[in-house]
Amino acid sequence: MTGRLFVIGLGPGNPEQVTPEARAAIDAATHFFGYAPYLDRLTLASHQTRHVSDNREELSRAGAALEMAAAGRTVAVVSGGDPGVFAMAAAVCEAIEKGPDAWRAVELIVVPGITAMLAVAARIGAPLGHDFCAISLSDNLKPWELIERRLELAASAGFVIALYNPISRARPWQLGRAFELLRKHLPAETPVIFGRAAGRPDERIELAVLGEADPAEADMATCVIIGSRETRLIAREGQRPLVYTPRFAGEVR
Ligand SMILES: C[S@@+](CC[C@H](N)C(=O)[O-])C[C@H]1O[C@@H](n2cnc3c(N)ncnc32)[C@H](O)[C@@H]1O
Repeated sequence: MTGRLFVIGLGPGNPEQVTPEARAAIDAATHFFGYAPYLDRLTLASHQTRHVSDNREELSRAGAALEMAAAGRTVAVVSGGDPGVFAMAAAVCEAIEKGPDAWRAVELIVVPGITAMLAVAARIGAPLGHDFCAISLSDNLKPWELIERRLELAASAGFVIALYNPISRARPWQLGRAFELLRKHLPAETPVIFGRAAGRPDERIELAVLGEADPAEADMATCVIIGSRETRLIAREGQRPLVYTPRFAGEVR
């Protein structure tokens, strides 16, 4: 007998940004796997059990959840934001690909959530209003040279860039290096948004320009959005400027 595995996106941190579909999945599951800060966001009933694991143990966490689902339980793996964006849904798929046949029989339901870049963008206007990409600055699972290449190509091709995992204690210099590279392709006045803890009580949204952007503005809870050549500011009396990327680009109007 096989069970079900939900991979649930809890959104950026604001309870109002947890979708009704995610709430229903949380109600349905009896076993919850995840990193403690995400599990801490849930209010569980007495018949629901938490299985906490460290942030870096994604694959073994996915395997443990699949094992329990394959045994017939209704299991949930939780992620912040969207589970498919630099998060657990890919780890679960990877575990299924590498794991025993029984794991392929598990009913897998990925429940989307609001990802960080969307929560940050919504706070300041519409910086992702035209073509954009998301790049993780973490070189834990890919070489730094590949990140540099993607940054340069994305900036020169005109994409707005959302940077996830911009900085950590183990990766202190990468964001500064990324800004240096981007300055080669973009004007100094290009808007840079430091969106920290969007949707949480300690939210902080700061606006800078690329020429002066200071990596110290970012921490592990920050999503950094760097505009394209088209991204612009609208000044407003007594309010923060709006940042937006128009719906048109190039010669087309
Ligand atoms: C491992 S990734 C997980 C992303 C997540 N699955 C999502 O869709 O937002 C962690 C990174 O997401 C970004 N992040 C997550 N929550 C955030 C929030 N509330 N505000 C700003 N950035 C956030 C930060 O860049 C952080 O380093």
